[in-house]
Amino acid sequence: MTMRFRPVRGMRDLLPDEARGLIRLFDLSRRLASLYGYEEVILPTIESYELFAAKSGGEIKERMYTFTDLGGRKVVLRPEATASVARIVASKMLGYPKPLRLFYIVNLFRYDEPQKGRYREFWQAGYELIGSGRALADAELIEMLSRFMEMAGLRDHRFKVGHVGVHRALMGIFKVPEHEQDDVLGFIDRDQWDEAMKILSSYPAELRDVLTGLASVKGGMDKVFEEAWEQLSRYEPALRELERLREILRYAVMLGVPRERLFIDMGFARGLAYYTGVIFECYSHLRVALAGGGRYDKLISLFGGPDMPATGFAIGLDRVHLAQVEAGVSYEDRTFKALVVLAGEDERVVRLAGEALRALRGKMGARAVLDVSARSIKRAFSYASAQGYDYVVVVGRREAEKGVVSVKNMKTGVQVEVPVEELPERLPD
Ligand code: HAM
Repeated sequence: MTMRFRPVRGMRDLLPDEARGLIRLFDLSRRLASLYGYEEVILPTIESYELFAAKSGGEIKERMYTFTDLGGRKVVLRPEATASVARIVASKMLGYPKPLRLFYIVNLFRYDEPQKGRYREFWQAGYELIGSGRALADAELIEMLSRFMEMAGLRDHRFKVGHVGVHRALMGIFKVPEHEQDDVLGFIDRDQWDEAMKILSSYPAELRDVLTGLASVKGGMDKVFEEAWEQLSRYEPALRELERLREILRYAVMLGVPRERLFIDMGFARGLAYYTGVIFECYSHLRVALAGGGRYDKLISLFGGPDMPATGFAIGLDRVHLAQVEAGVSYEDRTFKALVVLAGEDERVVRLAGEALRALRGKMGARAVLDVSARSIKRAFSYASAQGYDYVVVVGRREAEKGVVSVKNMKTGVQVEVPVEELPERLPD
């Protein structure tokens, strides 16, 4: 009996053509990390349920892949990675000099409804800056994300920026406990204002009025701050947070983010409950966010560490790839691909093929593949042509005697003999 399988709903097989785009983004995000001095960490896929239960926010918590392992522990497939980083910092990295700059590439799992740009397993590159509470740290991250989008060829990107510190300060004035603040922000994130206001119904109406009034304040930097200032003038702690937001954005512009890319929305909240200050998302022509992040100053102490300010963001790499495909962004690919085919397999031939492969691979990025199948040269050529190889390199006994290889340019059909030490400089046009 045969059995046929396909991926479980929401899971994807990525064949070479689909995987390639994503892998290039892994490379790009690593390059960004090294340009800005972020060090890579490798994080576990499975974490304890409690790590996310407290501060992930209702929406993400309800959609976690949760199960009991064979040892009876309640565990989850990670729905995000900031909590893991905070756990590691709180438990293992307290002695490291601060600020710490950490970077990761992770696959994540959320039981979201599958649709365009929304998968149940997806990939993020994340950057966390830990141990600095300064506005400059948040500004660095916004500029870095902008740089990533530029490098990825998405020049039309823009930021949506908010600051939950303002909302928390307002609720703090009216003595709303932190868990209720989290719930209110969670509902605002889902645009369920009625639910959010229901939680606040036992507090003075003034709080609900100022929060709803604030939500209509949105736009460019100059206009928004003036309007928000007016609305918050009587609430000193909230004003201080607003001033902080202005400082962050001014620094971001000084570091090189064009100010017209920054769109401020004072009614903006994000699904994760650990945010305490600035929050942001990045968009291009796709309707879904390409990346998101913000400041989370209390997560490390929640996990048993000292009070330690932190800020960060994560890029949804699948979505960036989708945006690139739709926008027709193509990376310039200067590398070529060569198939090295053996005619005969005696020692001299195999050695020469080895030399040719090393010479081709030795230089920047040339992809050289050894044909390990025992097919005829003719079949090897048709295979190479179907697979889009740029060159076929034939190594046989005749070539081995002369110390040369025969190289054919598959596009032009030109074939020449090249001394192996002149590879890859001398390739036929
Ligand atoms: P997040 O906004 O939940 O933040 O996710 C960041 C990005 O991951 C989103 O903007 C989106 O591009 C991508 N993403 C989320 N869900 C899906 C999905 N179902 N399918 C495809 N892509 C998706 C975080 O995860 C925070 N840990 C970011 C952070 C780091 N905050 C501070 N540091």
